[in-house]
Amino acid sequence: MLRPYFSATILLMKARKRLVVGNWKMNPKTIGEAKKLYVDIRKEAAKRKNVDVGIAAPFPYLAELRKYSVGKSLQLVAQDVFWEKQGAFTGEVSAAMLESVGVTRVIVGHSERRALGETDEMVNSKLRTIVRSSLTAILCVGERERDHGGKHFGFVEAQIKSAFSQIPRTKLSQIIVAYEPVWALSTSKDGHAATPEDAHEMIIFIRKILSHVYNRAAADSVCVLYGGSVNVKNIDELLKWSGADGFLVGGASLKGGDFSSIVKSTHDSKAR
Ligand code: PGA
Repeated sequence: MLRPYFSATILLMKARKRLVVGNWKMNPKTIGEAKKLYVDIRKEAAKRKNVDVGIAAPFPYLAELRKYSVGKSLQLVAQDVFWEKQGAFTGEVSAAMLESVGVTRVIVGHSERRALGETDEMVNSKLRTIVRSSLTAILCVGERERDHGGKHFGFVEAQIKSAFSQIPRTKLSQIIVAYEPVWALSTSKDGHAATPEDAHEMIIFIRKILSHVYNRAAADSVCVLYGGSVNVKNIDELLKWSGADGFLVGGASLKGGDFSSIVKSTHDSKAR
């Protein structure tokens, strides 16, 4: 069943540029450490022209890090956004605020935010706001656990359908999907990456849902990342077999050397 779809996907893949985004979460502890890490990563990113590289830094660091984003070699990414434009929403940050400090992309629906109460409806509101701005969303989806009955496919399907509700096809270029199974995050109990084959299967499935919601060409135009315990040890296998257009990297993005190696491997890899 997957084979014809997969072949067509391979033909169309060239159009999607690879992307590696470091998700720093609530790290590092100070702006001084953040600057140092950012500058180290930028040096590597500047050398790797055929892969886009971004860092999702905590809100208070973004404006300062912008000063070190020479050219477009390292993109500033935010970890969240609110759907309202302005007003009495203590603690929230708008799309316009992010744009004004040079942010180009924003993570939406990360499982750590969902665990704090973010619902599918909230994720959809955020996406609808983002497509009205100049930002691009990195929409995180992924099941909490797997079972032999394959319920995780239905779970991810529901997340995708809800997230893309009322998003017109013309806005798809502003949405990137990151498949991040919660059980595969380095901070989870199991803490090991999905196998490249499991990631591949879900990435194909995500495209299939998108092709039902929109059409094949639209689904093939969407960049789909993998995230969950990506590190220097598994990056080559993931590049070879997962079919991902890139990676959302948590823990390993806090070590400049490791993250740079992941960027370099992604840049050098011919596989996809
Ligand atoms: P991890 O995190 O690479 O540490 O598993 C990924 C993420 O949460 O985005």
